[in-house]
Amino acid sequence: MTIPATTIDTVSAPLARVAADWLAVGRWEGEALSGPAAEADAATGGLLARLVAAGDLTGKPFEAVTLYAPPGLMAARLLVVGLGKRDAATRLRLHEAAAAAARVVTGKKVGALAFAVPDRAGSLSPADALLAVGVGLAQGCYGPGIRKATPSRFAPDRLVLALPTDAGFDPAPVVNRVRAEAAGVWLARDLVNTPPCDLYPETFAATAAGVARAAGLAVEIWDEARLAAERMGALLAVARGSARPPRLVVMGYAGNPGGPTLGLVGKGVTFDSGGLSLKASDQMVDMKCDMAGAAAVLGGVKAVAELKLPVNLFAVLALVENMPGGRAMMLGDVLTARNGKTIEVLNTDAEGRLILADALSYAADQKVDHLVDFATLTGACMVALGPHVAGLMTNADPWGERVLAAIGRAGERGWKLPMDSHYDEMIRSKVADMRNTGGSRYGGAISAAKLLQQFVGDVPWTHLDIAGPAWAESESPAQDAGGTGSMVRTIVELAAGYS
Ligand code: BES
Ligand code: MN
Ligand code: ZN
Repeated sequence: MTIPATTIDTVSAPLARVAADWLAVGRWEGEALSGPAAEADAATGGLLARLVAAGDLTGKPFEAVTLYAPPGLMAARLLVVGLGKRDAATRLRLHEAAAAAARVVTGKKVGALAFAVPDRAGSLSPADALLAVGVGLAQGCYGPGIRKATPSRFAPDRLVLALPTDAGFDPAPVVNRVRAEAAGVWLARDLVNTPPCDLYPETFAATAAGVARAAGLAVEIWDEARLAAERMGALLAVARGSARPPRLVVMGYAGNPGGPTLGLVGKGVTFDSGGLSLKASDQMVDMKCDMAGAAAVLGGVKAVAELKLPVNLFAVLALVENMPGGRAMMLGDVLTARNGKTIEVLNTDAEGRLILADALSYAADQKVDHLVDFATLTGACMVALGPHVAGLMTNADPWGERVLAAIGRAGERGWKLPMDSHYDEMIRSKVADMRNTGGSRYGGAISAAKLLQQFVGDVPWTHLDIAGPAWAESESPAQDAGGTGSMVRTIVELAAGYS
């Protein structure tokens, strides 16, 4: 693991007296300087107001203006970042503004990066603004280039969240949440970025067990014998093409004895070659990311446990490699999944739904009241929604709406796709209870979800297809290329509101 050792703390002091290598302040677009920006302006003798007058400081999202050796400040450098319009403020906006600021300054090693939490952020509470800025900073401090002789990103030793002396709320619990969410996001991104020669089912499971034990979670790791005893024929069939044995990780967290239990299931294909339905190289290059759902569940559950949230979680990580080895499953094979239903394999590259079938069926049979699965399941979902938005599909609309609301509050992106019964015919098979492809170019995200639905019984279930948002093909102002940590924040938000 190569996770930053950065500490995250708050300070309540006049900005002029915040000692740091960098001090970042936000500027709201289309209005006079206010809050920390006004304070920095006063301390520097009106430097910011002059930049505003010259049109160099507009406050547009992702604008970043650097002032070296600013007069009147103890900080060595001042960074003014655009926050966009105040009344458009969301956790997403502030998260991205803070992440963009961190990315500007962490291209080389610095000791302390301070960020003044924005004032009166529209309809966001001060606590939510602090949370969004804190986790956003952490997001921008981590990048995938850690195996380079000269790394391309350096996490600072310290992140400092500067609050006004009259913040009006107790920041301590919020900063704890920042630390836990940041660590969860870093863990998920690190797992996704780890090359598949190092991260395969056994090593992922061992890492998960270590993380779970350190966080006080109950954990079991199932090997092939146990998977066979549990009749997980679909998961085992995917795994047969690889020299690496599969694993299933089961984790439990009991923070609300007697209360309802939230089940979380993650797709953990540590490498997806496509199997005998082999992908072309340009479709395969990034397929170490195909375990991002399992990574999100691990990072999210770890954060929830560290925060001791009053919730019960039951989490399952389905870990396999999808390879075209000599014993690989073949086209035309018919598999019997854990719940006894049969699946005709018409494309071995539609493997995620096969492993999730068994994992969901197991989770649904435990005492869970609701289920959510996280999976880089289909390219079709990216065709439908673009690369930044998760597809949400559900068998229970009220539960789907709750998950969608949590995604929105957490500052992530999701959109609901339909699941009416007329889609059921897409997975009809001539020889088995269902087939593992939709049989057409159209509606591929939904036909995949329709297969999953066959394995959740009548548990309210929501499927999140994160093929797009889990992985950034190239860098953008707020995000380095590679694993994004998608849905870790959503899991914490969902757990925080679950009772
Ligand atoms: N892991 C892929 C989906 C994927 C694609 C994730 C791009 C991230 C980026 C999945 O296992 C897959 O191969 N799906 C196929 C399904 C098809 C064969 C029915 C796809 O989307 O092409
Ligand atoms: Mn595949
Ligand atoms: Zn896959």
